[in-house]
Amino acid sequence: MSKHNLENITRDEYPYLNLGLEGIVAFSTTKSFIDGQKGELVYSGYTIDTLAEYATFEEVCFLLWNDRLPSKKELDELNSLLVHERKLPKPVLDYICTTEKHAEPMAVLRSSVSMLADFTDPSLDDTGNAIVMTAKIPTIIAAFARARQGLDVVSPLDEGSTAYNFLYMLNGVRPGAEAEKTMDLCLILHAEHGMNASTFTCRAIASTESDIFSAVTGAVGSLKGPLHGGANTAVMNMLLALESDLKTADPVAFTKEKLEKREKIMGFGHRVYKTFDPRARLLRTMSKSLSEETGHEILYEWSEAILKTMKEEKNIDPNVDFFSATVYYSLGIQPDLYTAIFAMSRISGWTAHYLEQMSNNRLVRPRALYVGDKPKEWTEISDRS
Ligand code: ACO
Repeated sequence: MSKHNLENITRDEYPYLNLGLEGIVAFSTTKSFIDGQKGELVYSGYTIDTLAEYATFEEVCFLLWNDRLPSKKELDELNSLLVHERKLPKPVLDYICTTEKHAEPMAVLRSSVSMLADFTDPSLDDTGNAIVMTAKIPTIIAAFARARQGLDVVSPLDEGSTAYNFLYMLNGVRPGAEAEKTMDLCLILHAEHGMNASTFTCRAIASTESDIFSAVTGAVGSLKGPLHGGANTAVMNMLLALESDLKTADPVAFTKEKLEKREKIMGFGHRVYKTFDPRARLLRTMSKSLSEETGHEILYEWSEAILKTMKEEKNIDPNVDFFSATVYYSLGIQPDLYTAIFAMSRISGWTAHYLEQMSNNRLVRPRALYVGDKPKEWTEISDRS
């Protein structure tokens, strides 16, 4: 299919034409605010720096769902609900254990989330189902990660944070405090981000008054793409490809060569940020210390070299996916799981937006510019070339 030539389309004729919906405000929200010029990100009234310093992921979930921090009692209640909901319905676990080993983790997550809808407790409201998915997504990811390697699936613990339990289910051993803290911080930093493609997908589905599982299933499919959440896996694959030939690896030449060919460097650029993504700033610090601790300094050094080259050559800064890749790698996590881990956190933002959309709904229904042929005479099939 050829690219559409829209050069002759005038703004007067089509004042609302906006490919990629850049700058379009389609919803109002209390969930997050992004200042793309200053590099600031706020979740329901708290900067991510404040949340990164003081909050847990579970507190962030409560904040996004309720627009306020929980009391101690409310947080305890949420934690116990999340722990209680961790186990998967047997047919979902059976699917995860028997599907193709080479299936993409995000595809397995998408199908599993969709299946969860069949086993939901009819007495649960949308917030209850948001908690169910938040609790079960880590179990889905860890179970598939182990099953595809022929390892026994590790049942979830009936205690501990989301971060702690996830690392435990993934590795089969209880994580240390540092690893739990790192994972928890990653979950906080990925929880919510305005009207990104997957959240937009979620709200568009919600706007038809479809159910919350359908909205999240669609959002997972949207996050999977390499221009969105899939970029973190692509970043790691890029660094590992460089590492595969340590003797000749040259991140600066690699970056310049790709730019010359007008190819993109994954983990850079953003529709909203025109400066350093504040999440990337926090992840950069984590990446540095973890890479040093785990003997992956070279990957961090290359990341910095690529970053410097991108700034010099294109004046483009990194986004959240750039340094999260080396952080997850330092935690020993397989690269193709990174986008699913993103979803494990973003489920909080997606479901918060679902609830918000349902409380103030209007069907999302934009228009498309028709650039096809004018109506023609019917041609009999025998006369078609
Ligand atoms: N590498 C090289 N050049 C880039 C990059 C990049 N990563 N990102 C943008 N550019 C260049 C484009 O080539 C374009 O240059 P040109 O004007 O000379 O043609 C210009 O910057 C504008 O880029 P667009 O792709 O038009 O910007 P858009 O706002 O549509 O896209 C996007 C934003 C998709 C994030 C883009 O920067 C990109 O593809 N980045 C790489 C993928 C990535 O890291 N995605 C994760 C984003 S964060 C998230 O979703 C969680």
